[in-house]
Amino acid sequence: MNANQKLKTYIQQFGPGINKEGIKFIGSEKANNTGYGDGSAVVHDMADFSRDTNLIPKQGMVLDLGSGLGISSIRWVSEGYKATGIEINESLANLSKRITSNLINKGYMKKNKMKVLQGSYFPAEYIDARNEGLTKAPYFEDKMVFKGHESLGLKVLSPEQNNPEIYTQAGTEFSDFDIYYGFLWNTQTPSALEMFSMYSTKPKAIFTGIFPAIGEKELDEMLDTFELVSLNKELGLKKDFKIIAKKENLDNIMKRATL
Ligand SMILES: C[S@@+](CC[C@H](N)C(=O)[O-])C[C@H]1O[C@@H](n2cnc3c(N)ncnc32)[C@H](O)[C@@H]1O
Repeated sequence: MNANQKLKTYIQQFGPGINKEGIKFIGSEKANNTGYGDGSAVVHDMADFSRDTNLIPKQGMVLDLGSGLGISSIRWVSEGYKATGIEINESLANLSKRITSNLINKGYMKKNKMKVLQGSYFPAEYIDARNEGLTKAPYFEDKMVFKGHESLGLKVLSPEQNNPEIYTQAGTEFSDFDIYYGFLWNTQTPSALEMFSMYSTKPKAIFTGIFPAIGEKELDEMLDTFELVSLNKELGLKKDFKIIAKKENLDNIMKRATL
């Protein structure tokens, strides 16, 4: 059994949850509806999907936007990708780093397959543009409290919370990732979509687990605003995750897509 197969078995065996020490997965019950770990169900679907289609690069570097405990990054690694998780919450990021080292030490994951960085995933230029009021996303709330956790929206993301060096630490520019993945809270979604449309060049798809709070109509409006398009309809997908592409790339993507 190679390291990736071991990692998959480990995830299947223990599920996406985590114990208080933050070391071991303990099944999904506790993780359900907390916004942490339940994203792995989306990743499972996504991984199956990426195997069956040419739409998603079969290998490469994934940027995990708001990686939390790192469950989704771990799942991407088990599919043979490299993953960089960026998480702003310090305790989650630290826990996630411990989990990753633990997996490496136990031989479930090869070194250098996954990085976890603490900070904001917004590139410095994006924050500057926002602070100068150059762009304006719809549906953006100051903050949202979700089960006791304060989700960080842009307006509460002060420049001090941003780490302009984050992509230097990552060793990869924002625009150079092959896949953007995020299991985003709805306050994060507009800015993450906008950021994707503004700064990504190479990648053509982003997966986002979107909470039901964002309806199809609102999402359509958002996509329109940022000149993005959801491929779910075109491809007849009824999955929880959304595959989003730039409108300008749509023809090429559809040519490549073989389901
Ligand atoms: C819904 S959780 C998803 C966690 C993880 N990907 C999973 O599937 O379990 C969203 C995460 O995004 C983080 N977050 C919010 N805004 C962020 C930002 N600007 N930069 C980095 N992380 C952020 C939150 O702290 C939270 O951990």
